[in-house]
Amino acid sequence: MAETNQAGYQSFTIGGFEFRRDEYFAYIRSPKGDHQMSVDAFLRALQRDVAWGFFYGLVNFDTIFGTFNHYGTVDMFMGRFNEAFRASGLDYNETFDSEHLMKAFRAMLDDWTIEGFDPFAAPGETGTPFGSKRGHNRAAINRQRVAAKRMVGVPGDAPRRTDEAGFPVNRHFADVAQDEPEIEIEPGFEGQVAAFNLFAYLSRSDVTWNPSVCSVVQDSLMCPTSEEYILPILHGNDRVEWFIQLSDQITWDVQDKNTGQPRARVTMKAGDVAAMPADIRHQGYSPKRSMLLVWENAAAELPRLIAEGKAPTAPVAF
Ligand code: PHB
Ligand code: FE
Repeated sequence: MAETNQAGYQSFTIGGFEFRRDEYFAYIRSPKGDHQMSVDAFLRALQRDVAWGFFYGLVNFDTIFGTFNHYGTVDMFMGRFNEAFRASGLDYNETFDSEHLMKAFRAMLDDWTIEGFDPFAAPGETGTPFGSKRGHNRAAINRQRVAAKRMVGVPGDAPRRTDEAGFPVNRHFADVAQDEPEIEIEPGFEGQVAAFNLFAYLSRSDVTWNPSVCSVVQDSLMCPTSEEYILPILHGNDRVEWFIQLSDQITWDVQDKNTGQPRARVTMKAGDVAAMPADIRHQGYSPKRSMLLVWENAAAELPRLIAEGKAPTAPVAF
């Protein structure tokens, strides 16, 4: 049995980093200094980093600590993307084999997430992350991310969500129509045409801030998601992402990727479209549950092309 602290939690040493939690806080120690976050925010961010396989580019848990995906290896850092930390030489970065860091992050998420707390859930729909160690919530933290091979609803692919499958309509989406499209197929094309009601699908999402791959055409990934409260990470893009606000409203704080200097505050209402450039970090606020379509370009060469200046950081020049 691993040693536990007074609050009942395990501590973790990962390379030069040490992690521990108590009733309210996560503490991170690098060889250059100490950092502290609310364990609520820390676990919500850790859950995304784990479930998304370190995601595209930078996953900043806050303005100081985070990970930088190099797709095979991953950097873990403190203060690397913070001007003040860098200026005073307190920034620290270490590179890990992705599988190794993932294993350690999974173990930490497993031990630190207590019974009743779901890091994917909106705050109003879950129990507390605070307090001393009580049980686990493995059903929540090990959810399989939806990753359609072609499209949700295609036979043999990711299924639609239903009451029977344990996905009731969310309280904020009681007015969303649940009828499915009628499909009339020309003879000879049976088995080749599919359609589903995306709004009904999203109205039944049990998680927040968790884009799921709902349709795929080569490198074009449609990743809709339902949002409520705060995106738990400040995402530093390594490519352009498009946002289409499908319902309600989200406000985005957009900052310079490297320094964190404010660049824009973007309020998106239903129907609004925005392109998030490749040289920014962003964090969204959704006052009530809303639907957002994130459109990702999964082409593996993009981060290199952008870093070398061979592809633009923004898709449109005005
Ligand atoms: C993003 O960083 O672009 C992002 C991540 C998760 C979401 C929405 C947007 O739910
Ligand atoms: Fe992003």
